[in-house]
Parts: sequence; structure tokens; C-alpha cells
Amino acid sequence: MRNKGQFLRMKHDKDKIVMITSYDYPSAKMSEEANVDMILIGDSLGMTVLGYDSTIPVTMEDMIHHGKAVYRGAPDTFKVIDMPFMSYHISTEDTLKNARRLYQETGAQALKLEGSGEVSEVMKKLVHAGIPVVGHIGLTPQSVNVLGGYKVQGKDQGSAERLIEEALEIEAAGAMALVLECVPRQLAEKITNRLSIPTIGIGAGAECDGQVLVYHDILKYGVDRLPKFVKPYIDSNHLLGEAVQSYVKDVKMKAFPEEAHTFTMNLNELPEE
Ligand code: KIV
Ligand code: NA
Repeated sequence: MRNKGQFLRMKHDKDKIVMITSYDYPSAKMSEEANVDMILIGDSLGMTVLGYDSTIPVTMEDMIHHGKAVYRGAPDTFKVIDMPFMSYHISTEDTLKNARRLYQETGAQALKLEGSGEVSEVMKKLVHAGIPVVGHIGLTPQSVNVLGGYKVQGKDQGSAERLIEEALEIEAAGAMALVLECVPRQLAEKITNRLSIPTIGIGAGAECDGQVLVYHDILKYGVDRLPKFVKPYIDSNHLLGEAVQSYVKDVKMKAFPEEAHTFTMNLNELPEE
């Protein structure tokens, strides 16, 4: 399993860090078998596997339930898990309790928190308690209703400067890496060069130290519309959809099961009427 020191070295060596989300045993197993550097148990599971239309309804219990499944599928991969909506805002006591549960009960190696400012103060406390943290700025989906929608952040000078300040503050708080979501590539490059910790981009261009994408997006699995920044590698909706339709058709047409799929017995063992 990789560690914080190796991620720093990878940034230094310009060796790209590959991160992917996983939410359950099969997605985690496939990600580990593909040798990803990091898995994110993202609260995007609210959309990808639970069918909500944002990450806001996702609970601590949801994260722990899925985090444990990912652990079983990818025991040897560095795992980052999202702190869900409002689980790190109410009080320090609450935050530390939630952080302890996510960290201990799921076996993840780091927690990810969206935002800066007061959240940077929270990060300091977690790092102080011995829990590695990853930051996340730019488009922060837990604040989608404050941001006014899922849109690119930092396009004008004022907001670009603010994002640079936030990035530096998060690094100073002790974060081990920073996710940049939906920021112009030129700004992401500037932030990447200013920081000594790795940046992991999603919709943030090729100059970030690493990339993260949502598992279901790259497989086009269960999702209908893909954001501009996604490159799908297969159309699972189509391929898997056809397979399920074939199964339905086969049963209806009595083409399944065939002899090869059935068990048989000695006829004289068959009770008579
Ligand atoms: O939950 C998630 O999938 C994320 C990534 C988009 C960074 O936070
Ligand atoms: Na997330």
C-alpha cells in the first residue's frame, strides 16, 4: 500500500497519482486489481449507488456501510473516505466522534473534507489527533446550493485568488493532498506549482499531480448524463442492459435454462404420485 511519503515523492517525480472512487466490494476489487494508487469512498455514492440527486442526503451510516465493503474488496490500497454533509460542522466533539468512526470502523487511511476557513481549523484538529486528511476545494458538491449549481469555480481574478489562498491554507493545516474540482486548468496548474502536497484534479486539467474520476462515470454505469470532464471507457448501460434484456427474453422464450444449467437425479429415486 502506498503512503503519504510516496505520494509526495510521486509529485516530486511527476509520476501521476491515479485515484478512482469505489463504493462496494466489486468496484473496490476491480480498482485494486487495476493498481490504482488511491481509492476514494466518495459521498458521490449518494448519487451513484443510492439514487439521490445530490450528496446532501448521505449519512455517516451510509459512509461506514460502504466504506467497510470497500475495505473488503481493496484491503491493500490506500483509501480516502469522505466525511458526509454536516458531519464536521456542528461541534468539535461531534466532528472528532464522526472522524474516529469513519477512520477506525472503515479502515480508511485518510478522511476528505470539503472547504476551507473553519474547515481548515477542523483539519488541524484531525491531523493533531493523528488522522490524515485530504482537502477538497473548487466545486464542493456538499455546498451546491450555496454555490448556485454545479459549475466551474475560480474563473475570475477574485475567485481565482481566493482559491489559491484556500489551497495554501489547507496545506498549512496539514492536509496530505488536495482535490481540485472543476477549476480552470491554468489555475489548477498554478495551485499545483504553489503547493508541496499533491493536487488531485477532477475537471481541473492535466497539470494536477493526480486525477480522480467516479467509477460509475468511467464505466457509464447507471448514469445518464456525464459531466464534460469525464472520459467514459465503456458503455456499461448499453452492454449490461443488453445482457439483462437477453436473460429476460431467454426465460420468456424457454431458451434458459438449458440442460447444462440443470441438475438431474436417478429416476427411480423420484417419489411416485
Ligand atoms: O465523492 C466524490 O466522488 C468526490 C470526487 C468527485 C472528488 O468527492
Ligand atoms: Na465527495
